[in-house]
This record gives sequence, C-alpha cells and structure tokens, in this order.
Amino acid sequence: MKRQSPSETIRGRVAFDTIAGRYDQLYAADTNPLLAIMRERVYQAIGRHCRPGAALLEVGCGTGEDTLALTARGYRLVATDPAPRMLAEAETKLAAAGESGAVRFIAAGVEELADRWLSLGVEIDDVFSNFAPLNCALSLDPVRALLLQALRPGGRFIAVVLPRLCPMEVLLFSLRGDLKTALRRLRRSPVGDVEGRTFPMRYYGAGDFDRALGGSFRRIETRSLGIVLPPLSFGPAFARVPGLIEALTLLEDRASPLPGLRRMGDHVLLVYERV
Ligand SMILES: C[S@@+](CC[C@H](N)C(=O)[O-])C[C@H]1O[C@@H](n2cnc3c(N)ncnc32)[C@H](O)[C@@H]1O
Repeated sequence: MKRQSPSETIRGRVAFDTIAGRYDQLYAADTNPLLAIMRERVYQAIGRHCRPGAALLEVGCGTGEDTLALTARGYRLVATDPAPRMLAEAETKLAAAGESGAVRFIAAGVEELADRWLSLGVEIDDVFSNFAPLNCALSLDPVRALLLQALRPGGRFIAVVLPRLCPMEVLLFSLRGDLKTALRRLRRSPVGDVEGRTFPMRYYGAGDFDRALGGSFRRIETRSLGIVLPPLSFGPAFARVPGLIEALTLLEDRASPLPGLRRMGDHVLLVYERV
C-alpha cells in the first residue's frame, strides 16, 4: 500500500489545526452561503442512501458541523479527524448541543483508521467524508483498505472531493488574470493552502475512485457540487449581488446530475455501494 510519510501527513494536520478556532467563522453562512448550500445537498444524499438511525463513520469531521447536523437528523456518528484541535472543536460543539451521547470521536486520519480498524471495535453501517478530507490522502489505497473492513455488503460510501476539472475555477481566476490558480488542479504535484500553510494533496475524480475501489464497490450516484455555482472562495463576492446565488442555485440543481457535467466542478459527490 502506498503510504504518506509522517512529515507529509503532519503538514496537513498542522495547517488545519492552525485555523481550527476560526474555521466555522471562515465558512459561516452569513458571509459565504456556498458551503451551506453544498452541505444541504450532501445531507439530502445521505438521506437518500443511509437508513434513518444508521451508524455513520465520518472521515475528516473537522469542527463537527456535519456531525452535529446528522445527529440532529437521528444518525449515530463515529467522527474522526487527524487534527487534534479540529477534533477538539467538534467535541466541544457536540457537548454544547447535548449530543455527545450520539457520537464517538477518534483522533485518526484515513490511513490510521485503515491500519487500526479491527482493534477499534467499531461497527458502522455507512461511511461518509465531506468537503475534501480525502484529497489530503496522497493515495486512495487506505480508503479502499478501510472500506473493505468497515462496510458490509449493501453499505454505502459517500465521498465529497475536489476533482481535477473545475470549469468555473478556470474561468473566474483567468478573468482575474490569476492563471496560476486557474490551472492549479492540473499541476503534477498539487499543494493545499490553508492561509499560507501548504501541504501536499491530490485531486481525485470518479475515475480515480472507480480504479482504487475496484470490483468490490459499485458507483451508484455521481453529482457535481459547484458546476454552475462558483468555487467557495468566490462566495462572499457573489453574495453581494442580490439574487445571484439563488438564480445560480436553480441552474446548479438542474445541471449537477447531468452526464458530461456531473464528474466535474468545485467538488463532486460520489456514492458507492459495497457489493
Ligand atoms: C476542509 S476540512 C473539512 C472538514 C469537515 N468535513 C467539514 O465539512 O467541515 C478537511 C479536514 O480533513 C482533515 N484531514 C486532513 N488529512 C486527513 C486524512 N489524511 N484523513 C482524514 N482527514 C484528514 C483535516 O484535519 C480537516 O479537518
């Protein structure tokens, strides 16, 4: 199995830990409505694929925004993240909401989960990972190893990841004259950047997951998140134009499941069933 060196793994964790205390404010719906729109579509997908009350493994839970939203919808969660301060924010948030009883927290990235899964003694029905944690893994081998251990036949894996092709990102950054950012997803060795702290990452699409997961998994839904709507960083600017995001959201919901468009965008939502 191809592994990340510890220094590569730690750089990603440190980057997110640095902003843990401000993460929720950076993406708050009042300044940037785009993430809330995206989260709502992810919850709808979870509602379509995971039975009410199911036990969900959340990979890369961050500050627990989805953890809390999904406990409120009646799911039980095993929430995991390798960045200790992000995980601490999630634990505090769930405790404040009186929902700690519905969640088990584990400090681990996808690689450690794959290595330690059997010793954790965890039983889950489905797995999800929202808003690109899996792009921090430099190989999808640990994802496959984890899913093979964690999911029973019929279990679902819902991943929201950054794919290589995002037409709106290319268009909008090119119009700004920032060609480096416009083409960043095509770099051979891409880097993530959290407020100037960089770390190695990878862009993954449906084809990458199909190849990595192999015949034990069947892709049953593919949907773009951000094919008409702009990438998240443009949210505050677009929100200043009255009605613009609402109009684009209507178009987005029509375009996002279309063949030819659904495999590209700012993020993509992929749903697999364990065969
Ligand atoms: C952009 S945040 C998304 C957090 C959360 N899912 C959300 O929707 O707000 C990415 C998260 O992935 C976590 N992460 C970084 N490397 C990871 C890895 N190798 N495996 C799993 N999660 C990882 C980070 O610590 C961070 O909390």
